[in-house]
Formats: sequence, structure tokens, C-alpha cells
Amino acid sequence: MKRLANKTALITGGNSGIGFATAKDFIEEGATVVITARSQAAVDAAVKELGPQAKGIALDVADMTQVKSFGAKLKAVAPVVNAFFVNAGIAKFSSIEQADEQHFDEQFNVNVKGAYFSIQQVLPLMPEGSSIVLNTSINASIGMPNASVYSATKAAFLTLVRTLSAELLPRKIRVNAVSPGPVSTPLYTPDKMGLPGEQIQAIGEAIAGKIPLGRFGRPEEIARVVTFFASDDSSFVLGAELIVDGGMATL
Ligand SMILES: NC(=O)c1ccc[n+]([C@@H]2O[C@H](COP(=O)([O-])OP(=O)(O)OC[C@H]3O[C@@H](n4cnc5c(N)ncnc54)[C@H](OP(=O)(O)O)[C@@H]3O)[C@@H](O)[C@H]2O)c1
Repeated sequence: MKRLANKTALITGGNSGIGFATAKDFIEEGATVVITARSQAAVDAAVKELGPQAKGIALDVADMTQVKSFGAKLKAVAPVVNAFFVNAGIAKFSSIEQADEQHFDEQFNVNVKGAYFSIQQVLPLMPEGSSIVLNTSINASIGMPNASVYSATKAAFLTLVRTLSAELLPRKIRVNAVSPGPVSTPLYTPDKMGLPGEQIQAIGEAIAGKIPLGRFGRPEEIARVVTFFASDDSSFVLGAELIVDGGMATL
């Protein structure tokens, strides 16, 4: 039997990169998948590509009005959610000397506040035995220059793995984290990173040189780990972080 047969899974930011690859993997494993994307057009395009096992809802997690009404919208589409991949996130790079308040607030609003209150919205729909998977980052554990705010958001987010695991224990909801190293996704584009293309390429080459496997990861390589956490294969695993980084943080 497929590992996510008869399960419904939710993925925020499921239109792109790691989220989209995970939606595909979940569907291959038999799940019905609800993805969110920031715009209705992005929702529609992703759902069309994912096929009949996919549904979608527009959600900007930086907008608390949208977040607060998300649970009701989700319930109309999926009354039960067995797995939630809390994936939507942004990464911006700046030295501390140049960082301004907007750089700080934007990342904390999406990566921490938006993620936290999204979980609050989804919890009423999660039955016993459900699984929440947080997309954190090795940046929570390493000292990468110019990534201070992004890293702080992921470190804050990572703490939820333990606190929520303890808090949700009576409901038998497991919470785990996947911490990717550098993965080739649209995150590394001028629009998303807020840096010129040449600078992003230079950063990418410098980072790749620090990965023992000598390359960026592929989104599918993260998706497989998320599927493990989302499925009953990991039924005895909770409060755990799995680093998936080609050895960057650990060797
Ligand atoms: N790629 C890496 O090297 C890497 C490493 C470690 C951790 N991560 C984490 O992996 C997650 C996915 O990133 P990715 O690499 O797959 O990049 P991506 O392709 O840019 O995916 C990010 C997703 O989050 C969505 N998103 C951004 N801001 C949002 C908001 N305000 N409301 C709702 N959705 C929002 C994006 O929507 P749009 O398409 O509309 O922008 C997109 O769907 C992030 O949390 C990131 O921090 C990535």
C-alpha cells in the first residue's frame, strides 16, 4: 500500500521549489494534497500541473487577515488534514550594518509569525496520529555571513519542533523538522532574494564549495524526507530534526 494512501496533506508554498516537489511526492504516495500559494493564479497553475489529487487555496502568510480566515477556507476543501508541511518561507541576505527594519520584519513575519499562526489554524482539523513537518534550515545551526536575520527566523522556528511536540503529545500529533542545506529552487533568483543575478551566482558558487557532496541538493531529495516524516514510517519519531545538506553542517 502507498505510504500516504487515504491521507490528506497540506503544504504551504506548495506551488514552487521544495513545496511543489513534496506535493508531487505526496501524490505519488497516494495522498490528496492541498497546496497554498500567494496568488490564485499560482494556485491554479500548480494544481493543474499536479492533477486531480490536488486542490489549492490562495494564502499570503504575511497577511494576518488571510491567515485568520484560513482554517475555515481549508475546512471547506479538506475537513481532515493528516499531514501539514509548513514550508512557505523567504530568504534575504544582508550584512547587519546594512539590514533595515523591513528586512527584519518581512522575514520574521513570513518565516515565524505566518508559519506559527498557520499551524494554529490547521490544528483543529488534525486528528490523532497526524504529522506536522517544519521546513527549517541548516542556517539555524551554522554561522553563514549576511544570513543573520534569515538564520534567526529558522532557529526560532526550529524550537517549535520540541515545544509543539510536547504540547501536542496528548493529541498524538507528531512534530518534526527537515533542515535542508542549499537546494536549487527559485529561492535563488533576483526577485526572491533581492540581489542581482551575478551576486546570487557568486554566493551560489561559494556555498557549493562548502558542501562536501560538491553540489546543491534537488527539491526531490528534501521531499522524500518530508514524506518519511508525514507517513507512519516515522511513527516513533517526534521532536526530531533531520539535516539534509550533503554534509555541509556536519562534516
Ligand atoms: N532552497 C534552499 O536552499 C533552502 C534551504 C533551507 C531551507 N529552505 C526553506 O525551504 C522553504 C521553501 O523554499 P524553496 O527553496 O522551495 O523556495 P521557493 O521555491 O521560493 O518556495 C518558497 C515558497 O514559499 C512561498 N511564500 C513566500 N512568501 C510567502 C508568503 N508571504 N505567503 C505564502 N507563501 C509564501 C513562495 O511563494 P511564491 O512562489 O509566490 O514566492 C513559494 O511557494 C523555505 O521555508 C526556505 O526557507 C530552502
